[in-house]
Amino acid sequence: MNIIFLGPPGAGKGTQSKLLEERYGLVQISTGDMLRAEVARGSETGQQAKSLMETGRLVPDDLIIKMLESRIAQPDCAKGFILDGFPRTTGQAEALDAMLKASNKHIDVVLFLDVDEDILADRISGRFTCAKCGATYNEVSNPPKQDGVCDSCGSHEFKRRADDKRETVVERLKEYRKLTAPILPFYEKTGRLHAINGMLPTSEVTAQIETVMAGQ
Ligand code: AP5
Repeated sequence: MNIIFLGPPGAGKGTQSKLLEERYGLVQISTGDMLRAEVARGSETGQQAKSLMETGRLVPDDLIIKMLESRIAQPDCAKGFILDGFPRTTGQAEALDAMLKASNKHIDVVLFLDVDEDILADRISGRFTCAKCGATYNEVSNPPKQDGVCDSCGSHEFKRRADDKRETVVERLKEYRKLTAPILPFYEKTGRLHAINGMLPTSEVTAQIETVMAGQ
């Protein structure tokens, strides 16, 4: 099964993708994580993406499409994947359709996490991740069970994203409204789009997603 998660920054795409990955044995593909890894490596792609990401802008379609195309061609994606953060523009959605068609694959479900904008900024400013294993936490809604210790790997080191500053989040939301929200009708007309109330607690969001998955 191949799944797309759509939704604004901070909607919970990464959180829910990781839960689905474990539950259904799919591969999570986060284009944001891939780009952050490229930035950390100082690669050419990373150098092109860095300043755009830091200012909350989307990176160019050609760069991200090339990166995604080579990732979904990897053998581990044959059992199914979850796209977290892709597509984000009409051009990316069309390119995805074309590349899947060429390899006899298709998207089964598109999950849209619907969250009001006033909630998003607080969620993002409360977010931190384990520096070792990448587990995501939130100061308010999802702190580690033991203060300062990662539930998953026991590490004591945490980090915050460079683009999670409030002023950058404002820009990320503008990009979402202008470039990403317009692709919702593209998937709506295929009948594969399912709107999920992403404002409920994490476990209740997961329950809605599982209901959709059970119907597939
Ligand atoms: P990316 O890394 O994809 O960031 P994003 O889409 O802005 O989404 P986030 O990762 O901020 O949020 P999320 O929805 O995953 O929420 P999360 O689960 O963490 O992209 C970063 C940048 O890379 C872009 O700005 C762009 O520059 C570039 N980029 C990436 N892909 C691109 C593409 N395809 N094209 C062009 N450029 C691209 O949750 C957020 C917080 O809320 C956490 O603390 C979590 O614990 C908490 N939380 C989650 N669910 C709930 C809940 N139900 N209730 C309460 N708290 C919750």
